Amino acid sequence: MVYGRPAMSPERSPASTAFGYRMVAEKEKQGLVNEVFAKVAYRYDQMNDLMSGGLHRLWKDDFVTLLGVPKNSRPFRVLDMAGGTGDIAFRIAKEGGTGTIVTLADISPKMISEGAKRAETQGLRSRCRFMVANGEALPFPDKSFDAYTIAFGIRNVTHIENALAEAFRVLRAGGKFQCLEFSQVDVPGFDRLYEAYSMTAIPAIGKVVTGDGAPYRYLVESIRTFPNQEQFARLIAEARFERVGYRSLSGGIVAIHWGWRI
Ligand SMILES: C[S@@+](CC[C@H](N)C(=O)[O-])C[C@H]1O[C@@H](n2cnc3c(N)ncnc32)[C@H](O)[C@@H]1O
Repeated sequence: MVYGRPAMSPERSPASTAFGYRMVAEKEKQGLVNEVFAKVAYRYDQMNDLMSGGLHRLWKDDFVTLLGVPKNSRPFRVLDMAGGTGDIAFRIAKEGGTGTIVTLADISPKMISEGAKRAETQGLRSRCRFMVANGEALPFPDKSFDAYTIAFGIRNVTHIENALAEAFRVLRAGGKFQCLEFSQVDVPGFDRLYEAYSMTAIPAIGKVVTGDGAPYRYLVESIRTFPNQEQFARLIAEARFERVGYRSLSGGIVAIHWGWRI
């Protein structure tokens, strides 16, 4: 199922989703998503900086501060799902004490190998584990993590409800789910400006930097079809998480959502 915002995308059927302005069958989506990230892995950070004007760094810092990682030697196992090249995992490893171990899992071997190289360079290799895995079917036992994070990843998963169910399964009782994702701009006037920017500037920047605008048109479309703050909070609650909440950042360009396995 693809969750859309009816006001913005009335033409979308539940069995299809947008990919670079064309509709693709649900079963094709993951393969196309994988192609996108295989193509952009080595320029991923540069693109994020250009497209967000550096804001993604502040959002990620806020996200990790909110997680409340222990700074002492208490064992704290974090699964950073769709961890890509390590932006969140490395922040957590740096923030946490000696007991903090982060497992970075991602479906893209290219993103993972780029991440592993960076961990080495930053001296974080011993605090991080790397694993190729699909967020919809995790290769981890039940209740094996204290926290599950996912940043700019759940939008790419074909069945969000499967990813949430897996997050719930691998968290221990008392464990925290936390997600950073593009959301719905809720400031009158700014919403139109942001829409215009994302539809034109983002694919154009993508084309200049990587030589191909199509992956970035996909990015924009996937943002437009993702549930808004309230809708996503409901999905998290439906996945059995409790004390679900969210905070919008930068006028709702992104939101941090959380929930606890009690
Ligand atoms: C936009 S990147 C985010 C990377 C990182 N979390 C960050 O914030 O910089 C999205 C990541 O989701 C991964 N991804 C897409 N579908 C996935 C799936 N079904 N399971 C696991 N990872 C997936 C992609 O390979 C890519 O690395």
